[in-house]
Amino acid sequence: MSKPRVIVTRKWPEPVEAKLKELYDVQLNENDVAMSVDELKAALGNCDAFCPTVTDPINADVLSAENISAKIIGSYGVGFNHIDLDAAKARGLTVTNTPEVLTDCTADIAMGLLLAAARRMTEGERHLRAGEWTGWRPTHMMATKVTGKTLGCIGFGRIAQAMAQRAHFGFGMKIIFSDPYPPPQDVIDKFDATQMSVEEVLQQADFVSLHCPGGKDTYHLLNEERIGMMQSHAVLVNSARGDVIDNQALIAALKSGKIAGAGLDVFEGEPKLDPGFLDCENAVLLPHLGSASVETRIAMGERVLENLRAFFAGETPRDKLV
Ligand code: DGY
Repeated sequence: MSKPRVIVTRKWPEPVEAKLKELYDVQLNENDVAMSVDELKAALGNCDAFCPTVTDPINADVLSAENISAKIIGSYGVGFNHIDLDAAKARGLTVTNTPEVLTDCTADIAMGLLLAAARRMTEGERHLRAGEWTGWRPTHMMATKVTGKTLGCIGFGRIAQAMAQRAHFGFGMKIIFSDPYPPPQDVIDKFDATQMSVEEVLQQADFVSLHCPGGKDTYHLLNEERIGMMQSHAVLVNSARGDVIDNQALIAALKSGKIAGAGLDVFEGEPKLDPGFLDCENAVLLPHLGSASVETRIAMGERVLENLRAFFAGETPRDKLV
């Protein structure tokens, strides 16, 4: 029997590409150049399993391709706001993602952003590198203390809980959260956490960390009005999706000192960065590095491989979304 044909849209870590080559008739993307819409459509018609990642728009247009031979979309990444699940289901496609394996890594980045923004770390480094440091003095670059403060999570799923683990047990922080689908009570009890509305979280938290999915339900959830509810010493952290924040409202709040700072790993319209952020000394900016550790990126690839294995063995893949 011939091997199933698999198309991968971007370069993956070498060990998982090697396994793909061994198991499948695979088309890799050695050059790592993103596919155009036409190329995505053509690829869907030329394989049994199609493996995009979170930057490939697998929307209704792409899924309207005349010929779709793929039976499964094994997406590399946990977020799935780039895939129109209804359209995929209508075309008879199974869709999977890669949860769990990137939880800790993403929470590490979120905690790092919180610390860096609250304690003005990247601002201080720029100051040092520019040769502006004249020496220690009692009032030099004073910032906000982190230990013992209140962390507010918008969304309280796996990554938020891993963030709460770090903040509560590592930094003695009080945890408050908002989530329309809260976790079981034993999880809430573990962190001694308190559930409240988004608005109450924004008003009460010293640090607000976003952990909700992107897409139409959370589009610009952090708009001018809600950012305006945050405390003036507060810091906003986003390791979730860029479109949850209205960039113009956040830039205005950072420039006017309405809030103390922001730590951002994701941006609406990325990789294009709103130039307004570059003028904000109080913003720590990262290029979507949440899951970017060698171990995690390999584990994500292995999770796709496990989903494909199950699918082709006639089993239900563990990460089946539709
Ligand atoms: C995801 O997997 O959704 C991330 O954004 C990339 O790590």
